[in-house]
Amino acid sequence: MSTFIVPVARPSDAHPPFDTVRPSPDGRGLVILDQTQLPGAEVEVTLRTRADMEEAIRLLRVRGAPLLGVMAAWSLAALARNRAARGMSDGPLQRAAIRDDANVLAATRPTAVNLAWSLRRVISQVDATLAAAPGLDAAGLADRVWAEAEAIHAEDRQMCLTIGEHALQLLPAAPAPLTVLTHCNAGALATGGVGTALAPLYLAHAAGRTLRVFVDETRPLLQGSRLTAWELGQAGIDVTVITDSMAGALLSTTPIDAVLVGADRIAANGDTANKIGTYLLAVLARRHRVPFYVLAPTTTLDPATPDGEGIPIEQRHPDEVRQGMGTATAPEGVRVWNPAFDVTPADLVTAWITDQGVVRSWT
Ligand code: MRU
Repeated sequence: MSTFIVPVARPSDAHPPFDTVRPSPDGRGLVILDQTQLPGAEVEVTLRTRADMEEAIRLLRVRGAPLLGVMAAWSLAALARNRAARGMSDGPLQRAAIRDDANVLAATRPTAVNLAWSLRRVISQVDATLAAAPGLDAAGLADRVWAEAEAIHAEDRQMCLTIGEHALQLLPAAPAPLTVLTHCNAGALATGGVGTALAPLYLAHAAGRTLRVFVDETRPLLQGSRLTAWELGQAGIDVTVITDSMAGALLSTTPIDAVLVGADRIAANGDTANKIGTYLLAVLARRHRVPFYVLAPTTTLDPATPDGEGIPIEQRHPDEVRQGMGTATAPEGVRVWNPAFDVTPADLVTAWITDQGVVRSWT
């Protein structure tokens, strides 16, 4: 991996102009931006119980691999504070409860490795803290989890910016307008910061560069048209939505500088799981000789999984396809195959752009 940092214009501190997840004022719950209601309504929801947090992740009120890691850590922190505030005093009892919360949250979404990574990181801090201070009470342990959640969130925010800076090294230089195609949502709504695939776009926009961003609708849950188009629009970035089936026509008729996507898990050989439809774009990009870049933090790497075949792919409810837009989009009861992610073989990826540098080949 090579690392290079260049000074570039950064989005202002006020960007993004929304919080995807933050602790509630009393620290015993979480406030999330409910992404299922976008773009129609910007609604914040307070989650107080583990069941609320579990449901928010399963229903994609909070989603996107890096954000799932941030959300998981904040969930453990808020639940631990809540227990201490309600009178739990015993440290080992608190540790057992935190482990139990982590097991429940880990089962919500299997593909994005950041979720399990973050839970493991918090648990190992809890174990180390109690080993060093066996007499620590439940409130003290909750404070430790809180500090870890803050650190995970801050690190994710920083990683987004660094990914964006690295990506700008590979994309055609200013002043030419930058034209890209992206898929799903790998932006501020999917991370604790300005996103991964969208990070270079925010940086380029902040530097005054002209951008043209095409985004796939991203069936069946429309993260592209509902979320990416919304957040880029909020930032004043030029965005054009296409349906997923238009990508081939777009790439064969329109000069596109690069296809930029995020990742949910990158196996040891570089095979990359991302939102369903990503593989299709990678094949099209190769056909049309357009660079296909995967932008992801190092927390998305999974060295324990040798290749794409070992990546667990989340299967979602058939009604997401049968009743796509709240109306019948297929005959009632028809059999549906609804994998939430696909795997792009490493050989179709031009480069992986991470916070620690650019990887062009894993061998
Ligand atoms: O099902 P989702 O909406 O959580 O899927 C999100 C994606 O596939 C993103 O592209 C990926 O998590 C990267 S987000 C920076």
